[in-house]
Amino acid sequence: MVSLIENPLRVGLQQDRIPEPQILVIFGASGDLTQRKIVPAIYQMRRERRLPPELTIVGVARREWSHDFFREHLREGIEEFGNGIGHEAVWEDFAKGLYYCPGDIDNSESYQKLKTLLAELDEQRGTKGNRVFYLSVAPRFFGEATQQLGAAGMLENPDKQRLIIEKPFGKDLASAQVLNRVVQKVCDERQIYRIDHYLGKETVQNLMVFRFANAIFEPLWNRQFVDHVQITVAETVGLEGRAGYYETSGALRDMVQNHLMQLFCLTAMEPPNSLDADSIRNEKTKVLQATHLSDIDDLSQCAVRGQYSAGWMKGQAVPGYREEEGANPESTVQTFSALKLEIDNWRWKGVPFYMRTGKRMPKKVSEISIHFKEVPHLMFQSAAQQMNHNVLALRIQPDEGISMRFEVKTPGNSLRTRSVDMDFRYDAAFGQANTDAYARLIVDCMLADQTLFTRGDEVEASWRLLTPLLQVWDAPAAPAVIPLYEAGTWGPMEAEFLLNKDGRRWRRL
Ligand code: BG6
Repeated sequence: MVSLIENPLRVGLQQDRIPEPQILVIFGASGDLTQRKIVPAIYQMRRERRLPPELTIVGVARREWSHDFFREHLREGIEEFGNGIGHEAVWEDFAKGLYYCPGDIDNSESYQKLKTLLAELDEQRGTKGNRVFYLSVAPRFFGEATQQLGAAGMLENPDKQRLIIEKPFGKDLASAQVLNRVVQKVCDERQIYRIDHYLGKETVQNLMVFRFANAIFEPLWNRQFVDHVQITVAETVGLEGRAGYYETSGALRDMVQNHLMQLFCLTAMEPPNSLDADSIRNEKTKVLQATHLSDIDDLSQCAVRGQYSAGWMKGQAVPGYREEEGANPESTVQTFSALKLEIDNWRWKGVPFYMRTGKRMPKKVSEISIHFKEVPHLMFQSAAQQMNHNVLALRIQPDEGISMRFEVKTPGNSLRTRSVDMDFRYDAAFGQANTDAYARLIVDCMLADQTLFTRGDEVEASWRLLTPLLQVWDAPAAPAVIPLYEAGTWGPMEAEFLLNKDGRRWRRL
């Protein structure tokens, strides 16, 4: 049996290695992700002494900012979105390592200027040529930026120079293949870190520990005992001012192809031989290759899309998607997707995996639930007039934890049953804040650990699975074609029918 506990770094319980001094170069440094997520996460790691004091960050973007302006901008981000500055001396020390280099993604001179700055910083800060280039730019620039970095000779050393590429990696199978070819021409696969921040979440990593470090669950994890699996990632937020991106993306590309597919892979994959990056990624790719939409000839039977209309969230009126700033008033983009997948392998044949994700849903909640088969012969009366399935629920966020639903006898003379939950809560057991997903992943990249990043063939396998549906959903359609759901509800009625017609229903969350 694989013991993940022997390697605390990999399972994220603590960090036992400090990366070497290095420069993190962020392309798209004037954007939201840098100010809200990446830098606050890195600063917190510095405060906890999990990053070397020499760590240097160079922001690259088009705006003509000074180093000082950039520092102030990041400080505001840490104060507003992070855990605060703490001791002023820590901030001052950190701020000394922050630099800004204005430049254009498609201008080779900008890369020469950057190269010179990085060489100077190596001298000043002792960063020894170690670099992580983080492409936090619009996806259409991923290829261009990589080629330019390659042409400028900045990705020549696979042991010291790495590339983080944000999602979405491609917009369908063909474009993902092209992008893979472009980046793989410039660098080795071992230099490429395709980021999916869900893999950095503590509870997502715990899925593997839960499955492969406990003898009692794995024997049940198959078609003999499991009736079906549900994966839900519900969000309360709406468009959040991202119309430009979202209009060309939609829930299937924004959430399903990456985040939900990763949850799916970790739930459905076979046990890897070891914990090294390729063993895990081999298993994820294998299960994706065996998976298909359940009814490929009639996609309406296995896929549902929806778009939120005006409604209420926590007592506040909120606009519909088409009324959001920047959205097309006739848009047919999905803000909700639900799918039924099937896996053609020995473990899962005949067990449907249902997944759904949506914006403007009543609650922010991500959960994987394993619904077990009923007992072969039922001798008891149930208070609910029917026997409930045993359900194992893995809560990814919030209230991270695991619960097991099973039947017990209700008190009293009659022999009736009712469902109860046995609950494990992360915060109650460990009482500590989880490491931010971004921080975790950036540090892993600095340590050259690719375990929590997606590989080229894995990304392609996931696009291959969804591309037939994308082709249908991308086709121009009348606005009336897409089912609407009121903001603050669990998606369109069609999503209920997807399960109801199989005699099942979504778990109430
Ligand atoms: C991002 C998507 O990748 O994930 C967003 O682009 C989404 O649309 C976000 O809101 C959800 O992440 P989390 O960590 O809040 O569940």
